[in-house]
Amino acid sequence: MGFRRRIRRMRVALAPGGRPLIRLHDSLEGQLSIEESRFLHTVARDRRVILEIGSFRGKSCAMLALGSAPDGRVTAIDPHISIEGAGKTAYNADDERVFHETMARLGVTDRVCHIVKMSVDARAEWGDVPIDLLWIDGDHSYEGVSQDLNDWAHLVPPRGVLACHDFAHREGVRRAWNERIMNDTNWEPTQFVRSIAWTTRR
Ligand SMILES: C[S@@+](CC[C@H](N)C(=O)[O-])C[C@H]1O[C@@H](n2cnc3c(N)ncnc32)[C@H](O)[C@@H]1O
Repeated sequence: MGFRRRIRRMRVALAPGGRPLIRLHDSLEGQLSIEESRFLHTVARDRRVILEIGSFRGKSCAMLALGSAPDGRVTAIDPHISIEGAGKTAYNADDERVFHETMARLGVTDRVCHIVKMSVDARAEWGDVPIDLLWIDGDHSYEGVSQDLNDWAHLVPPRGVLACHDFAHREGVRRAWNERIMNDTNWEPTQFVRSIAWTTRR
């Protein structure tokens, strides 16, 4: 492990609850950095209605479920099909099995509702339920992120949180976010945690 990464982990470890969080983070497969895991765990506090787009094997979903209000519920949307051009990680049907095993191992199965669909296909069944915390980490193309922001972001009420992964790594994510969120005065100025861009509705 590189020096900088060790320092970053040490900073998280020294915060309250840091060591158990690091153990949890290390036990789960996924691409979140330790600061990103901590952010999701923290921002979920007191949130009841959490919607995740892009679950993979459950790392971010676990952070959200374990960090949320005791009566909080995470709806996690992922089609779990083989997707071409998804970057260095291959996605496949095995991910769904691992996702469920992870939720069961962590004791949060009853707090997670998994919708095995593309986000665009899940939109109609969600209806107009307000979303306290919307986490977007699915299709990272410009078109995909734009569609998710268009379809779901208006359901986040005042003081609700919108967060999106891979802002720093994917040009399409940046462009979609900048066009739809950064330039929209309904949202507070964007903040960043590593590659997560996030904001609160005014
Ligand atoms: C980077 S992974 C998500 C990682 C996960 N959030 C975590 O932290 O462990 C991206 C996931 O998005 C899913 N995905 C791709 N396109 C999607 C879409 N249109 N709707 C929902 N999920 C999608 C893929 O199947 C893949 O599992």
